[in-house]
Amino acid sequence: MNVTMKAPLAILISGRGSNMAALIEAARAEDCPYAVALVASNNPDADGLRIARNAGIATFAHSHKGLEREDFDAIIDRALRKAGVRYVALAGYMRIMSDAFVRGWAGRMLNIHPSLLPKYKGLDTHRRAIEAGDAEGGCSVHLVTPTLDDGEVIAQASIAIVPGDTAETLAARVLKAEHQLYPAALAAYVRGHVGR
Ligand code: GRF
Repeated sequence: MNVTMKAPLAILISGRGSNMAALIEAARAEDCPYAVALVASNNPDADGLRIARNAGIATFAHSHKGLEREDFDAIIDRALRKAGVRYVALAGYMRIMSDAFVRGWAGRMLNIHPSLLPKYKGLDTHRRAIEAGDAEGGCSVHLVTPTLDDGEVIAQASIAIVPGDTAETLAARVLKAEHQLYPAALAAYVRGHVGR
């Protein structure tokens, strides 16, 4: 694919950025339909920002502290529009977003969540799956809507829960699956979405 035809993607992070790194790595493939135009964060100290800079990706960081939700989201929105972004991938972005921001990116913003949605929206997903006696955990890539972790699921990967699993051991196996699932699901979504 000609690099100029790749859809510009922004990745929003708050922390370590391992899913972000997987998306950046996947974007190096010639046939990947997206190119990472910007990594943005509400946390200027996010480890992922350093990873992005080292990979030569433009970054934008602005703390949300002391700002109204709408005002902070407007700052992020301006940075995304200025960078010519067409798709947004949330990757460990620990912010509840305003309805206006979410609506502005409807159908173009995806998230990865570490559970088999609709199970275990919100936090602490692996502990909740183990305590419920579930046979499997996993991860889901979904469209972002104003309701937390509620949008249409476009891809999932299941991981068996084995005897002795803790939230940490399960999280580590699910995270590996996330790094495979997210780039593949995003690429498939962007390909299917072209022209829309
Ligand atoms: C991942 O488990 C992701 O599913 C969840 O937050 C975590 C982010 O990890 N939304 P990382 O920053 O991508 O390493």
